[in-house]
Amino acid sequence: MELDPTNQFIKAILKCSNIKDKNILEIGCGSGRITKDLAKYAKSITAIDPDDNSLKIAKENLTSNKITFIKGLGEDLSFLKDKKFDVVIYSLSLHHIPYKAMELSLKQATELLNDNGKLIIIEPDKNGSLIKAEELFNVGDGDETFVKQKAIKAIKSLKNYEVIKKDYFNTLFYFNDEIDFLENMLPDYKTKPNNLISEIKKFLNEHKENDKITLYASRNINILKKLEC
Ligand SMILES: C[S@@+](CC[C@H](N)C(=O)[O-])C[C@H]1O[C@@H](n2cnc3c(N)ncnc32)[C@H](O)[C@@H]1O
Repeated sequence: MELDPTNQFIKAILKCSNIKDKNILEIGCGSGRITKDLAKYAKSITAIDPDDNSLKIAKENLTSNKITFIKGLGEDLSFLKDKKFDVVIYSLSLHHIPYKAMELSLKQATELLNDNGKLIIIEPDKNGSLIKAEELFNVGDGDETFVKQKAIKAIKSLKNYEVIKKDYFNTLFYFNDEIDFLENMLPDYKTKPNNLISEIKKFLNEHKENDKITLYASRNINILKKLEC
């Protein structure tokens, strides 16, 4: 699987905000996919994630001395209370935080921002063949409609901050073949009913392009800054 082969995430971030020479906090960095791109521009990145395995991969792959990886939850940022950042970014992570704690996480993130600091939040949107596959066949992250709505609601209800820019973009997913898709999106596919696997293969067949399966998913990017009194 190749995720975002045309680098739409970093293009959207650079289009909507200024991250050059900034001190960045990245919440839910996973295995460092976006951290790596941010590090090309930022002054420093503190990247947190609760998942040991993802952090291990991130640390092995990214050894820049600009980056500090820390194990931590987005809903409890108290371990960072002595730090300040120019930018806090959530890339596809806000909707993974328990929905009742999304607002709390955002509030804590704003408290870690400098006065002119910005919040950058990228969330999955509604459209795309990848999202359709997740919803139809319960593959990948499955149907995330509920948590996606909760994340947008949490962004809108954040007090003293306003969305100053919102944009949309599409990201691509390349799969070499059906097995590549199944291994990545439905790792226990061998235990699944044959009719489900046949339906998935039929769907994938409709999205073959130049010997590759190409799916896409829409994303929204939100830039927030403190309201001026
Ligand atoms: C879809 S991945 C996104 C990874 C990366 N930011 C990217 O854009 O590729 C979601 C990430 O959120 C992390 N996550 C899950 N629960 C979290 C929480 N409560 N606080 C912070 N991150 C969390 C997961 O471990 C995972 O790495």
